[in-house]
Amino acid sequence: MSAPQPSAKAFVPFVSVETMMRLVHHIGIETMLVELAGAIEADFRRWDVFDKTPRIASHSNDGVIELMPTSDGEIYAFKYVNGHPKNMAQGLQTVTAFGLLAQVSTGYPLLLTEMTLLTALRTAATSAMAARHLAPKGVTTMAMIGNGAQAEFQALAMKALLGIKTVRLYDIDPQATEKTRRNLTGSGLELITCNTAQAAIEGAGIITTCTADKQYATILTDNMVGAGVHINAIGGDCPGKTELHKDILLRADTFVEYSPQTRIEGEIQQMAEDYPVTELWQVVSGATAGRRDQNQITLFDSVGFAIEDFSALRYVHQKLSGTGLSQDLDIIADPDDPRDLFGMLQRAK
Ligand SMILES: NC(=O)c1ccc[n+]([C@@H]2O[C@H](COP(=O)([O-])OP(=O)(O)OC[C@H]3O[C@@H](n4cnc5c(N)ncnc54)[C@H](O)[C@@H]3O)[C@@H](O)[C@H]2O)c1
Repeated sequence: MSAPQPSAKAFVPFVSVETMMRLVHHIGIETMLVELAGAIEADFRRWDVFDKTPRIASHSNDGVIELMPTSDGEIYAFKYVNGHPKNMAQGLQTVTAFGLLAQVSTGYPLLLTEMTLLTALRTAATSAMAARHLAPKGVTTMAMIGNGAQAEFQALAMKALLGIKTVRLYDIDPQATEKTRRNLTGSGLELITCNTAQAAIEGAGIITTCTADKQYATILTDNMVGAGVHINAIGGDCPGKTELHKDILLRADTFVEYSPQTRIEGEIQQMAEDYPVTELWQVVSGATAGRRDQNQITLFDSVGFAIEDFSALRYVHQKLSGTGLSQDLDIIADPDDPRDLFGMLQRAK
């Protein structure tokens, strides 16, 4: 006897990497970055309603695998994400991810999707959203140190949300810089290849560090950082993995996503427990000032927080509606009688 066909209740919309790419092009990448930043900012404004916990990390000598859950009471989301800086040498991505959105009232999934692309998009959208509150007014030049998988997304988000016109590129691997330059040619950005990090930050009002190395690295030292700049530090996001010399943090006003997680994972892991930080939602909600004056060094110590993934997942779920782009995956068991799970199995013999 053939297995009974599952009913509609069994199916969960699934977004493959190919589908995500089609969705991004359907919306337009810069439009999507702007809309994602809006979605994330809106959720940061209702910070209090979310369940919050530092992400659950499983560390090894090679990297980390993390689970990032949150809920607003109606919708639940989690992301599975890894960070393996040595992967690239084997032709694998440093960061890959997938995630799920579910209805709190039934626990039934609403969406299962790739999140490697979506993570790059949401990270860049969050960076630009933070920079809109923290970067110097009228900034037009950004240094982009670390020209790997995240780099183009960061550059385009800063263009779309802040009007960045010039990006000064540096990577220890010139091939990475060449790849980024090639990918961004025709984007409307002026691209300048630099031979050192020091050269890259010349005249830049925003310095983005986005390198991957599973160790304490010093991409920027204190003497490199002039008054008034905004540092968008993306790559220090794990215990034992930082990018900035701690003296920079002594001069900077530091903004974080969720401090209990950032104190474990961010640049501030180098600092004492009472090192002062401001959570970005406080700035977004207007409770605290972002940039106060022209000489202030602002630092967004980004590690990536579950609420950003929640916002991104919900955004994708809304955008998919009516496009016919997702596939249906039969991943929820759906016996005719909910208590007859075993009977459903038997009938499938
Ligand atoms: N904060 C967040 O939300 C978030 C999200 C995604 C990724 N990340 C982190 O961002 C970093 C970059 O991710 P990716 O996917 O682009 O990684 P990637 O491996 O694709 O690229 C990293 C690049 O950094 C370069 N690099 C390494 N050391 C350097 C140095 N000393 N100076 C200049 N360049 C150097 C490498 O050559 C490589 O091109 C990773 O550390 C990742 O964990 C953070």
